[in-house]
Amino acid sequence: MQKKTTATVISQQMIADGIHDLWLKTDLAMYAHAGQFVGVYTSDVSKLLPRPISICEISDDFKAMRLVYRVSGENAGTADISKLKENDTVSIIGILGNGYEFVKIFGEDLSGANDVVIMGGGIGIPPILQLSKELYAHGIKHTVIAGYRNGDLYLNQDLANYGTLEIATEDGSVGTRGNVLDVVREKGIKTGVILACGPLPMLKAIKKYAETSNNNREVKAFISLEERMACGVGACLGCVCKTVHKDTHSNVNNARICTDGPVFDCREVMI
Ligand SMILES: Cc1cc2nc3c(=O)[nH]c(=O)nc-3n(C[C@H](O)[C@H](O)[C@H](O)COP(=O)(O)OP(=O)(O)OC[C@H]3O[C@@H](n4cnc5c(N)ncnc54)[C@H](O)[C@@H]3O)c2cc1C
Ligand code: FES
Repeated sequence: MQKKTTATVISQQMIADGIHDLWLKTDLAMYAHAGQFVGVYTSDVSKLLPRPISICEISDDFKAMRLVYRVSGENAGTADISKLKENDTVSIIGILGNGYEFVKIFGEDLSGANDVVIMGGGIGIPPILQLSKELYAHGIKHTVIAGYRNGDLYLNQDLANYGTLEIATEDGSVGTRGNVLDVVREKGIKTGVILACGPLPMLKAIKKYAETSNNNREVKAFISLEERMACGVGACLGCVCKTVHKDTHSNVNNARICTDGPVFDCREVMI
């Protein structure tokens, strides 16, 4: 399901420095899955393009979705979005992208769901909440590792509801000092399948870890790539990344992150 529609703001609050938590009432919620995203339009007509924001959570009645995002600058589109108040309306387009597809990742009967570790870093933490919720709903036990800059945590209490939560902070003020992979090393966490979202250096490190892991078995990793986006629907080729496969649209080894991704098997993308 993909359409442009009007959503109504249920609530909006700041949950950490510059991080906003927006609940929207929209029928698109019933079609959404973890790892997918919506494009949020701003009320400023000079900012034509929708801002891609991941689905952080879907309400239990599938009538609302939660978006958690960082305001990227005073005059940015995300700053306009942060001004939305209860009962305001906002245009959104969705549902966009592919998300974490459990059958593809774990197999038809989900029997490959062993030692599942999900990792979120910075503004890659919001989408792992819905991911953790969906794994929990399928009875898949998992560890969640959330990596923050410092002790100004967000969504940690929500994340603790669905998996075993571990925290890393760059300044060491909470949990393990360092990044999400430092937690794996420090706590000796077994990894069979890694599902991750976060900044590019973190995803590169996860790809390398999965490909070179010497624990005598294959570690799979599915990573959500973030790239500057324009159309968000596969038309402009503004978001391509290099892959091992040929893109049917352009016949080169490119994938469009907005439509072929944002979630990829790390072995398929060159980052
Ligand atoms: C699939 C996907 C999911 C995302 N999910 C989240 C999320 O859950 N929470 C969150 O805080 N951020 C998320 N981002 C990043 C977010 O889209 C950007 O921070 C936001 O678009 C910046 O817009 P702006 O108007 O504030 O900034 P500006 O710099 O003024 O944006 C100018 C233009 O560049 C685009 N752009 C700028 N930065 C990015 C970026 N990092 N990624 C993609 N487009 C960008 C904008 O959409 C806009 O069209 C996601 C990005 C992608 C691609
Ligand atoms: S943003 Fe236009 S093709 Fe992806």
